[in-house]
Amino acid sequence: MESAARIIGTGSAFPERRMTNDDIAQELIRFGLKTNNQWIIERTGIIERRISNIQNEAEINSSLGARAAKIALERAGRKPEDIDQIIYATCSPDTLMPSTACWLQQKIGARSAWAMDINAACSGFIYGVVTAEQFILSGHSKTVLVVGGEVLSQWVNWQDRNICILFGDGAGAAVVEQVPARSSQRILSSHLSSDGNLSKLLYIPAGGSSLEVTPERYAQNLHKMHMSGRELFKVAVRTLTECALRTLEKLHMPAIKLDWFVPHQANLRIIEAVANRIGIPMEKVIINLDRFGNTSAATIPTALDEAIRDGRIREGQTVLTDAFGSGLTAGALLFRW
Ligand code: ACO
Repeated sequence: MESAARIIGTGSAFPERRMTNDDIAQELIRFGLKTNNQWIIERTGIIERRISNIQNEAEINSSLGARAAKIALERAGRKPEDIDQIIYATCSPDTLMPSTACWLQQKIGARSAWAMDINAACSGFIYGVVTAEQFILSGHSKTVLVVGGEVLSQWVNWQDRNICILFGDGAGAAVVEQVPARSSQRILSSHLSSDGNLSKLLYIPAGGSSLEVTPERYAQNLHKMHMSGRELFKVAVRTLTECALRTLEKLHMPAIKLDWFVPHQANLRIIEAVANRIGIPMEKVIINLDRFGNTSAATIPTALDEAIRDGRIREGQTVLTDAFGSGLTAGALLFRW
């Protein structure tokens, strides 16, 4: 049977603690640095974000992912035993070994699945869904759980005011399943890209096998995220626009025909610039960064889940998702819900 893949259910989960822009301003005072609510809102669109308490097992990455996954499964009408593959998109894993996907597998009791992580930073969820689709099309898998989850607050340098204002923690999940090729509700098109020449625009220098964390490197915060914000901004606008247009072109679909655009939630100004270049009015753009900040691989599944739950995204509508992230990775995915 010729087959296609379809997202049949979504879910999301966040830690409890809200950290407002004023809270960050207070934190920074301790290090002799300044920021303020108005600056952060004007430059990013972010008002608050959620931060995990990792002393609480329920708020570590795989636990947030498990909560999101259980909701997605329930909405999809599937049981954990129905899943035959788990893809966990994250760049802030519970542990380097084993994968966060395996921790999640144990937490939700998906006994028949095989599990793996994907690290494509903020593009991870789209990379994950496209990978799930390929396993489904090849006949290898039938029901795939894709999770985008992050606790990047652990890799934020709270003395770097360019970075600490941006990130939040959370997880989103989607169940992707095989459907007949003639099915109208399915993944329609996608485009993935990466450019390793731009790796150092956003990276964590130490803590991998190439550079161990010594006391000196720890003191220099080399085990935390380092970012060239201004350059990344420009590259983000260019790559997001390119990925979205290429994905639409594959179907000869004009942007005007889209019902919804769910972009990566890094910065409202990036989103506005991209929507403008593609030709999508802001009324059709789903935003959750005001309340959750940049949750990296979790931004798209959580924003998607919210819009499906509150009835903005309705059955039969076309949705374009679009992301960029450290790597520099990028990807877009078009589907009919
Ligand atoms: N509060 C107050 N002032 C600040 C702050 C702050 N938090 N941060 C920087 N400033 C100052 C700067 O020092 C600078 O002052 P100067 O002109 O005296 O030197 C001024 O504000 C402007 O700084 P810019 O860096 O030009 O500010 P910009 O408008 O570019 O905003 C920001 C900075 C928000 C980081 C922006 O560049 C951005 O969002 N870039 C993209 C980052 C991003 O998307 N990262 C996630 C990637 S996805 C992933 O893979 C995880």
